[in-house]
Amino acid sequence: MSDSVVLPDFQVTSNIAPGIDLKAEINRLRADKNAIILAHYYQDYEIQDIADFVGDSLDLSRKAAETDADVIVFCGVRFMAEVAKIVNPTRTVLLPDGDAGCSLEEACGPQEFQAWREAHPDHISLTYINCSAQVKALSDIIVTSSNAEAIINQLPKDQPILFAPDRHLGHFLNKKTGRDMVLWPGSCIVHEEFSEDLLLQLKAEHKQAQVAAHPECPDTILELADYIGSTRGILNFVATDPGQEFIIATEPHIIHQMQKDNPEKTFIAAPGVSEARDVDACPCTNCPYMALNTMEKLYQAMKNDGPRIELDEDLRLRALKPIERMLEMSPKGTAAASQAAE
Ligand code: 13P
Ligand code: SF4
Repeated sequence: MSDSVVLPDFQVTSNIAPGIDLKAEINRLRADKNAIILAHYYQDYEIQDIADFVGDSLDLSRKAAETDADVIVFCGVRFMAEVAKIVNPTRTVLLPDGDAGCSLEEACGPQEFQAWREAHPDHISLTYINCSAQVKALSDIIVTSSNAEAIINQLPKDQPILFAPDRHLGHFLNKKTGRDMVLWPGSCIVHEEFSEDLLLQLKAEHKQAQVAAHPECPDTILELADYIGSTRGILNFVATDPGQEFIIATEPHIIHQMQKDNPEKTFIAAPGVSEARDVDACPCTNCPYMALNTMEKLYQAMKNDGPRIELDEDLRLRALKPIERMLEMSPKGTAAASQAAE
């Protein structure tokens, strides 16, 4: 966990009364506290359904910046909740499980990142939003998988660039933009799990199916994809493509929104390598960090006002700068898929 982020350990200050109607209690607390619940597409179905807004990293950061709710309950991972606090510091920002991290964040420590920057004094640093507030504070521009290509294309062609921490996304962007960005060697444990052999097998069994993949996947998976994009991009693709069957190579909880938006279409989760070894294996393409947030923890966080994101003000201001550059340079884009809570 990043050292200047204070997450008071409010984890379980009270037991949950047996038989409690969690949905009704969360709705009551949301109204009482003037709270907004933001959720990423990788969250449990029940959390997606109770959220005021479900989106990708970029849409969630925009939503966090513009909300006038007193409390932002962020159902996602810590770097996302940190961004909400950085862009909207007067709000209370809650994260149902304070340990909900990200393998990309863990792969890129601030000291190593700073040394990397110092070793490349002529390079500017474009950093994927999946990193700690400390690494953001050491970066020039933050990007997400929705806006990275458009932002790179606004930079002078001869400008040398460092890209951290996802090497697969960086490699994909180098190919798309013709750049030669120097890449940090991090990766997402979830997207590295997809099996090329099983995907080829699945494609052979479903010849009409289109494959949509997130650019955090390794090149071997991306080469088999008909569409590559952020979570919101994938949702837009499956909604607008005339195809009826889709294989989805990203965290499978996103299929919940796809099925809701397109009940007549069929969605198949791309298989992970563990499934090749053992047919009864866990679906290891589930993000273990996102899975830490549960309806119970969401309720307790709202009841106890914690775990809460707190940031040192100097760090917040330094991390804000490259996020603001991102927001200025992002194409306006279409409104995200969103939903009102039931
Ligand atoms: P998106 O920005 O596409 O939502 O991706 C976030 C993420 O963590 C993917 O693993
Ligand atoms: Fe991080 Fe990968 Fe989980 Fe996204 S899916 S939050 S990149 S570990």
